[in-house]
Amino acid sequence: MRAFTARDGVLHVEDVPLTSIADSVGTPTYVYSSAHLRDQYDRLTQALSGLDAQICYAVKANSNLSVLRLFHDLGAGFDIVSGGELQRVVSAGGDPGRVLFSGVGKSVAEIDLALKLEIGCFNVESASELERLSERALLLQRPAPISIRVNPNVDAQTHPYISTGLKENKFGVPPRQALELYRWANDREHLSIVGIDCHIGSQIAEIEPLRQSLTSLLELTDQLADDGIRLRHIDLGGGMGVTYHDETEFDVAAYGNMLHELLDGRDIKLILEPGRYLVANSGTLLTRVEYLKPQPTPEHRNFAVVDAAMNDLLRPALYQAWHDVCVVSPQDGVLAARWDIVGPICETGDFIAHDRELALTEQQLLAIMSAGAYGMVQSSNYNTRPRPAEVLVDGSQFRVVRRRETTRDQLSLELDSELRADLVRPAP
Ligand code: LLP
Repeated sequence: MRAFTARDGVLHVEDVPLTSIADSVGTPTYVYSSAHLRDQYDRLTQALSGLDAQICYAVKANSNLSVLRLFHDLGAGFDIVSGGELQRVVSAGGDPGRVLFSGVGKSVAEIDLALKLEIGCFNVESASELERLSERALLLQRPAPISIRVNPNVDAQTHPYISTGLKENKFGVPPRQALELYRWANDREHLSIVGIDCHIGSQIAEIEPLRQSLTSLLELTDQLADDGIRLRHIDLGGGMGVTYHDETEFDVAAYGNMLHELLDGRDIKLILEPGRYLVANSGTLLTRVEYLKPQPTPEHRNFAVVDAAMNDLLRPALYQAWHDVCVVSPQDGVLAARWDIVGPICETGDFIAHDRELALTEQQLLAIMSAGAYGMVQSSNYNTRPRPAEVLVDGSQFRVVRRRETTRDQLSLELDSELRADLVRPAP
């Protein structure tokens, strides 16, 4: 099914009009379609059918507990990058045994927590991390399952900020060093070698870079087998791109075919860590036009100031990312013009979209599309703005899955009893 459709002149998420959500929850609000989340998961599962494969959803893309629960119920494991994400997975009912822990800077506290919870695998990113992990595992007397993250020096042909598999990137270790680390780990009783991994970047459009990475990991797997080190899994990371604007859709079936071609006949499990592919197009950021600022001459831009800002959705400001903007209930007789959609934050970088042809009026609702991945998770309290609410739609039902933050939520972290008495007076 298509998650977003216009019916009777109003944009719906599944069977729920976005106007109803705005009326009862307010704006700005992130709204996700559970049908779309399930569809994407099914699409990927189908592409992987016949392979011994496990999907470990990359929590960082959208870490709402209800989204995690939904993926857990579908059979997913999880890829995490912090102790906080691990606690989210556990709170959502996830199984630590199916958790992979990625990231270049795991702290002692995070490692200890993950060892105690007996996670499935540490994706190790450096020699120093491997040493630290070995020490902690020995001290806590808990064996640490490990995989070494290899940096295969493959160009994922994506935005430089989200490219991770080139040798100038901070991630993983070069193939030759990976072999040395495996040999070192193999001599340590409390380290248990379980796999090998890589993640070359995000919003990848082509299969070829992924094929090159897998080929490189398979070569290493064979070299390790020659040394008597047998791996149980190959983890190829996430990175599958989605359509935000006019990008061609990532061909998940072709990806599946490539994986079959390279893995059939091998006795090794495949793990993938998709984030964006599963969640990006499930979500929209619902916002309201506060003010229209049409400008007098063509050299000036027309501004529509909305109640969402770069603190709510950072992607346009940070990566010049393109998000489609839809009017939720277009009104008759309003002329279209070219508008910059901007937020209330005091920075020129605070924009949602530039130069969009839209028929706008004040107080109108807008839906900022494809905001399900790296949206809410990258939000902040800049300008002491409360973060948006989150809503999950399922058919004709919707549920607030994170309440809107209040200013009190923010201030409470900074108030001791003295300050509370002196400074905080009830609002008039
Ligand atoms: N695994 C690892 C180790 C990762 O670092 C990432 C994403 C993923 C999996 C999931 O990648 P995905 O399937 O979502 O492409 N904030 C940026 C994206 C940063 C991605 C970072 N790593 C954005 O808004 O485009």
